[in-house]
Amino acid sequence: MDRPLLSVSRLRVSFAGPSGELQAVRGLDFSVARGECLGIVGESGSGKSVAAAALFGLLGRDARVSGSARLDGAEILQASARERRRSRMAIVFQEPSRSFDPICSIGKTFEETLRVREPRLPSGACRERAARLLAEAQVPRAAERLGSFPHQLSGGLLQRIAIALALANDPELLVADEPTTALDVTIQAQLLALLAELRRERRLALVLISHDLPLVGRIADRLMVMYSGLAMESGSASEVLERPRSPYTRALLDAMPSPGSHYSRGPLRAIAGSVPDPRAVEPGCPFAPRCPDAVPGCLAAVPDLAEEDGVLYRCLFPGVKP
Ligand SMILES: Nc1ncnc2c1ncn2[C@@H]1O[C@H](COP(=O)(O)OP(=O)(O)OP(=O)(O)O)[C@@H](O)[C@H]1O
Ligand SMILES: [Mg+2]
Repeated sequence: MDRPLLSVSRLRVSFAGPSGELQAVRGLDFSVARGECLGIVGESGSGKSVAAAALFGLLGRDARVSGSARLDGAEILQASARERRRSRMAIVFQEPSRSFDPICSIGKTFEETLRVREPRLPSGACRERAARLLAEAQVPRAAERLGSFPHQLSGGLLQRIAIALALANDPELLVADEPTTALDVTIQAQLLALLAELRRERRLALVLISHDLPLVGRIADRLMVMYSGLAMESGSASEVLERPRSPYTRALLDAMPSPGSHYSRGPLRAIAGSVPDPRAVEPGCPFAPRCPDAVPGCLAAVPDLAEEDGVLYRCLFPGVKP
């Protein structure tokens, strides 16, 4: 098998705080192949964004990051800010405005980004390149947008422009952290279709982060379900959606409407209880306190990952409930 494009192992992130250490990511292993789409899903606070931000060096000084992440074989966790800016990976955030400086025109923003890799690129060539990228992201009247400022543009349009900007340095890996959550449903569908198309045409590897498991499941090749800073289950999207092994994945699916899934179930059920406090991590399975199938043994230790038909999952007593 080819070496994966991105390979993350034993990624841990904690934050020092006045009331002790907050463990946001507790040992994450995953990889993404060239051209592949990995969906990372899980409830709010499960560590999805922190894990992504760690890869891009976007965490503040109070973050302690350990483990390894290799892009095309090169370690990126220890990379300098300059090396990171030049590396062939890009990120799009939930709030499109986060990708822009409010006092910088769209054209100027593209110019600065394009010159990270080509410092002497003339202004005319920058404008031309930017217009082409905007057109690729299906921004209507692309050339005209270069004179606009972020506040003059709608959220949906700005997110398209943020995607175009992310393509400026010809990434091989695009991480999209809840790229459509702040937008209405129609725009959401259009943007997801755009990401799927860009992925196909550019053979981009895509990491799509969302709390919406069925939505991501429709696009992703593989899914990783996170909870309390850990991967609870990962495998092909069809296996995970149709035959979830981890009770947490089952609970997530039960809590969401999913017209595309064959996983049959009754009415929607919210997951009782709340996510564990990352400042007071307990020794057992993090989902045990909310798990309908939990037994006292579940509280002893975090279950190791087990494998079944290519799916990795964490549960000491799997399959208790079909
Ligand atoms: N800069 C920070 N300092 C301290 N704690 C943080 C920081 N950033 C995130 N956290 C904490 O880390 C944990 C994981 O947060 P993260 O943002 O990764 O969750 P998430 O899975 O992306 O959730 P959401 O679906 O709401 O975006 C949370 O408990 C959060 O409060
Ligand atoms: Mg997040």
